[in-house]
Amino acid sequence: MKKSVKVQSPATSANMGPGFDCLGMALDIWNSVEVTVGDNGVEISGEGHDSLPKGPSNLVHQSVVRVFEELGWNIPDFKLSCHNEIPLTRGLGSSSASLVGGLMAGNELCDGAFADDELLQIASEIEGHPDNVAPALYGGFRIAVNHNGRIISAPVPIPDGLAAVLFIPDVPMLTEEARGILPPEIQRADAVYNIGRAAMLVRAFASGDLALLDVATGDMLHQPARQTIFPAMKNMFRAAMAVGALGVFLSGAGSTVLALAQEKEFTIGYEMADAAAKSGIEGQVKITKPVSQGTHVVHSV
Ligand code: HSE
Repeated sequence: MKKSVKVQSPATSANMGPGFDCLGMALDIWNSVEVTVGDNGVEISGEGHDSLPKGPSNLVHQSVVRVFEELGWNIPDFKLSCHNEIPLTRGLGSSSASLVGGLMAGNELCDGAFADDELLQIASEIEGHPDNVAPALYGGFRIAVNHNGRIISAPVPIPDGLAAVLFIPDVPMLTEEARGILPPEIQRADAVYNIGRAAMLVRAFASGDLALLDVATGDMLHQPARQTIFPAMKNMFRAAMAVGALGVFLSGAGSTVLALAQEKEFTIGYEMADAAAKSGIEGQVKITKPVSQGTHVVHSV
């Protein structure tokens, strides 16, 4: 068994418009966790330092423990030092990053007992959101589907030079609440609308034909309902597209709005923030990019 392990895990943006619960990509915003065996406690700096639990109910802590439990090994005393750059409850996959980071750290402590695919199954079982968990684990753009209870995940290439302009509202959106308002049944026309666009989105990324993104990021399965609790969304979408965004969508269950762009990133961010402010929503703009690296070990002794 190792004594000290540090891992980093990326933010993720799930759904990407039409790919509700199936598509997600990793972003270049990172949480890190260092696990030291033989000590105790949970230290947190950055996002959530004053709100996240610092005891055994901490998600990173639980995830480290879970690896030992899965293996039937004795759980040692360990200390966690977490640094979080991923905002909480904003649709940027902070809980998936904590979960996958904890699992990866626990697994490394246990000398890499589980393969990545096994970690994916454990993570999806705990969190239930493979569209965040798969890109958090593997990085890049991932398709994730549930096949008879097993998560099957496949990568999609990401074109060079693609930026992600985020508007991160000060107001959170809780995933359970933003799921609770979705209608339980969908119209066939809406299913067709999304199937075609999800396929086109994958094609746009894989081929680099980014002109397709405008149409390919459209959605009828979750964004229209979510707009009822977040009316500013529509104006932000319009503002981003008016100044040259390639496509725009609600990141995960919100509240972050993500615009894809290859130029004018600062203008797009400014215009989204301005449109939000006109609807009474304050927040911050962050310009980042999709990232091919997923959760990884930084050091291990
Ligand atoms: N796909 C989820 C939702 C979010 O939109 O509710 C994260 O998995």
